[in-house]
Amino acid sequence: MSAQVTLSKVRSIAVIEVNNPPVNALGHAVRKGLWDSIEAAEADNTVKAIVVIGAGHTFPAGADIKEFGTVMQQPHLPEVIDRIENCKKPIVAALHGTALGGGFEVALGSHYRIASADARIGLPEVNLGLLPGAGGTQRMPRLCGAKLALDVMLSGKPISATKAHSAGLIDSLTEDDLRVAAIKFAEDVQEVRRSRDETKCMLNAEAYRDAVAEAKKMVSTRMRGQLAPTKILECVTAALEKPFAEGRAFERASFFECLSSKQSKGMIHAFFAERASAKVPEASRAKPRKLESLGVVGGGTMGAGITVAALDSGLPVTMIERDAESIARGRANVEKVYDRLVAKGRKTENQKSAVMALYSGSTDYNDLSNVDMVIEAVFERLDVKREVFEQLDKVMKPEAVLASNTSYIDIDLISSATSRPSQVVGLHFFSPANIMKLLEIVVPKGAADDAVATGFALAKRMRKVPVRAGNSGGFIGNRILGKYGICAAHMMEDGASPYDIDDAIFEFGYPMGIHAMYDLAGLDIGWDNRKAAAPTRDPAERYVDIADKICERGWFGQKTGRGFYRYPNGARVGTPDPEVLEIIQAERKQKGLTTKKFSKSEIIERYLAAMVNEGCEVLREGVALKPSDIDVTSIFGYGFPRHRGGPMKYADMYGLDKMLSNIQKYEQEDPVFWRPSPLLLELVKTKRNFDDLNKG
Ligand code: 3HC
Ligand code: NAI
Repeated sequence: MSAQVTLSKVRSIAVIEVNNPPVNALGHAVRKGLWDSIEAAEADNTVKAIVVIGAGHTFPAGADIKEFGTVMQQPHLPEVIDRIENCKKPIVAALHGTALGGGFEVALGSHYRIASADARIGLPEVNLGLLPGAGGTQRMPRLCGAKLALDVMLSGKPISATKAHSAGLIDSLTEDDLRVAAIKFAEDVQEVRRSRDETKCMLNAEAYRDAVAEAKKMVSTRMRGQLAPTKILECVTAALEKPFAEGRAFERASFFECLSSKQSKGMIHAFFAERASAKVPEASRAKPRKLESLGVVGGGTMGAGITVAALDSGLPVTMIERDAESIARGRANVEKVYDRLVAKGRKTENQKSAVMALYSGSTDYNDLSNVDMVIEAVFERLDVKREVFEQLDKVMKPEAVLASNTSYIDIDLISSATSRPSQVVGLHFFSPANIMKLLEIVVPKGAADDAVATGFALAKRMRKVPVRAGNSGGFIGNRILGKYGICAAHMMEDGASPYDIDDAIFEFGYPMGIHAMYDLAGLDIGWDNRKAAAPTRDPAERYVDIADKICERGWFGQKTGRGFYRYPNGARVGTPDPEVLEIIQAERKQKGLTTKKFSKSEIIERYLAAMVNEGCEVLREGVALKPSDIDVTSIFGYGFPRHRGGPMKYADMYGLDKMLSNIQKYEQEDPVFWRPSPLLLELVKTKRNFDDLNKG
């Protein structure tokens, strides 16, 4: 046997237990252990039936993702599952925790399934750019039909055991001890029963085909450009149209096609990058402080969003505003979010009241004297923020953590308004703060380790993806955005329309182009920043006036009905505006520029090169600790398509030497903007890439 799989006997039932913490992943030793245990139990005349169960807190949560990309050793998972299904003695899978991916496929290959009532099951392979490759696409629709199977496989989201039970995927639910209940269940079963022989769902082929057609529509819009979802659709179609063996062979070939794609490499990278971003030196050196209550100063867009995120995580919040009118508005901003959820039926009035009971509003800073942490989200003006921190310094208890949600301001300039700068960090949420997953945790020099660790603890509690950032203007995300934003402006002046640029970016996989994004955020924000930066701008730097000219007309984007696009009658998706094209043309003429045509691929090459080159600078200065943190920031805060792995992973796959030579070509046109980062030069010279830095 193997240390990771044990075989024991309870009366006439063999119990095979997988023990491979933390998630009982189905690595080689587990697969081999399962195989050998089934063989032994089948050969044992005193065994009547077999239970397969996970030790610790979960049934296997999938194949071992770390093995992907290596030469996989036999037995492979599909063979192990076939061995289970072909066993002459009944096998009962006993599910608890998260039975995911290959783990759930083991259960589908078993003859019976019993689950703890709070277990969750799913096939999340699509999140890794893969499809269920061990029979899941063939067995699951045979048991429950195409609709639920496609929902589960395409969303990648787990469903509750209760839902799985009512869909026929689970035979029995238990609130009692799972092991005891599973053994009892196994004692009662008489015969083997194979999912591959199920035909219930095939009885209504029309409904099956309708479900596939509907899913196809969804995939073509919401998952456009991704290989795995398309392959999932084909596999599920094959489950209806082909015998099991043929469907399974097709599934296997499709799985390997996905596994060898850049998309799965990008998504697997993103999976590990997301987990690596939470591992920071401060959190390894210190424990988080007590975090049982939160103060939020400012109840505008961000203050209200942060409040909702905190309330949703069960933290009581005291919100401070300037005056009675502002705090009433702050409260209304919070309530609005819950009212929308009630209107959509996603929360009841009672649930809303229960959450709002954790909220209190005030105009008196003394009401913050007992809270464990405060997050400031007032106007983006240093004088206003310093005044707020002076007040906080007076009232907050000594062990409290003080945080600012500033987008750009140097945290040191804010914290120096207090007598305790080491207790001040940046917590940069993204809008809408209750939805966006990214939280940049800005760590100024000298910040107390446990204050930083408390920021990471807050992120975990709010289910955010935290990234540690150094205290540099715009931190990681906005600083890099600034660069590729300028690159887009250059291309616009040189001949590409904002719509050409947005089309290319959309086609690359972003949910929207940069100009549509500017319109959504409000063009006035960038305008204010540019005006503030004007006195210190390097005169040698190329400056594009087009966005300023648009703002001068009072066109600030969606909120004013016009920006780079027009939004007639409150439309949320803009239409191209000929007057904007006239403004651009006039600017080009005034500067005497000759224009050129940009292909979509050139737009993307330049846009990504600007992103990656600045990413290198951010790394070189230690603002980001590792390239994968930049990938996580871009994916979770800026809509970078996950299936491309993030800009730094994309650059590795594109080829750093090729990207550098593009930059050196652009440098001939504009040596100020396109100066290759010394880090990029160094990596190319030493034939290393960002993955090497991630490992280092
Ligand atoms: N393989 C290898 N390592 C895994 C893993 C897997 N399938 N799932 C999780 N891990 C690792 C994580 O990297 C992490 O490692 P670390 O501590 O070194 O950072 C550790 O296990 C704990 O993971 P989480 O921090 O994510 O723990 P949570 O408790 O928050 O979540 C979970 C647990 C819900 C199981 C989550 O880890 C998860 O979603 N895992 C991925 C599940 C998945 O994608 N399964 C399908 C795999 S592909 C497959 O099965 C192919 C098959 O069809 C052939
Ligand atoms: P906002 O204008 O919507 O809200 C600011 C709120 O602060 C207002 O309600 C105002 O009444 C209140 N306020 C001002 N001075 C105050 C004081 N002295 N005491 C108490 N309350 C005071 O602004 P928004 O968009 O919420 O931005 C807040 C902060 O968050 C800024 O620093 C901004 O840069 C940052 N941020 C904004 C993002 C966005 O997309 N809007 C994204 C990430 C960060």
